[in-house]
Amino acid sequence: MDLADLPTCTRCTLSLTRQRVVVGSGLESAILMIVGEAPGKSEDEGGAPFIGRSGRLLFQLVHEELGLERGQCFVTNVVKCRPPANRTPRPVEIASCRPWLDEQLARCSPRVILALGNTAAKSVFGFDAGIGLTHGRVVAMGTCRGMATYHPAAALRGGPSVVDVMRSDLRVLKELLSEK
Ligand code: URA
Ligand code: SF4
Repeated sequence: MDLADLPTCTRCTLSLTRQRVVVGSGLESAILMIVGEAPGKSEDEGGAPFIGRSGRLLFQLVHEELGLERGQCFVTNVVKCRPPANRTPRPVEIASCRPWLDEQLARCSPRVILALGNTAAKSVFGFDAGIGLTHGRVVAMGTCRGMATYHPAAALRGGPSVVDVMRSDLRVLKELLSEK
């Protein structure tokens, strides 16, 4: 798989309804890789991940808790094309898109991978239990470590208590970033 072919990928039917393939943003050399679920409306139009309301909250928290700017992280999603009406990506779509994520994982060498929400936690770390049980758990992934936390869209719906949990997960993640 050549990442140069990703912007024109037609491996699944999400290619029929998307406007833009949202490849990812940031540095391949970033110490933190952030993986969300799928592009939303803003991302489908703008062509970059997490540029809508969820992204604003996400990068506010990342800045306040980790001291990192968006451009210092590599940011992508489990599927690179927007599902119609923002439905959850289907297993066949996640499987079709997986080689692209694998290619990105192989090219980046972050210290920590942060997965956001159930879809990313399951897809990246194989977590089957819901994010309410798995958030904040630290896993080893080859040479780096991984953690899942709530998706910022869940925090926008769920309010301050979800934001507080995300902040405390990010404080644990900060320790991981500074360990090596
Ligand atoms: N939600 C996601 O999971 N990813 C984005 O890029 C935007 C919103
Ligand atoms: Fe290709 Fe992934 Fe888009 Fe499906 S979601 S068309 S596999 S880039």
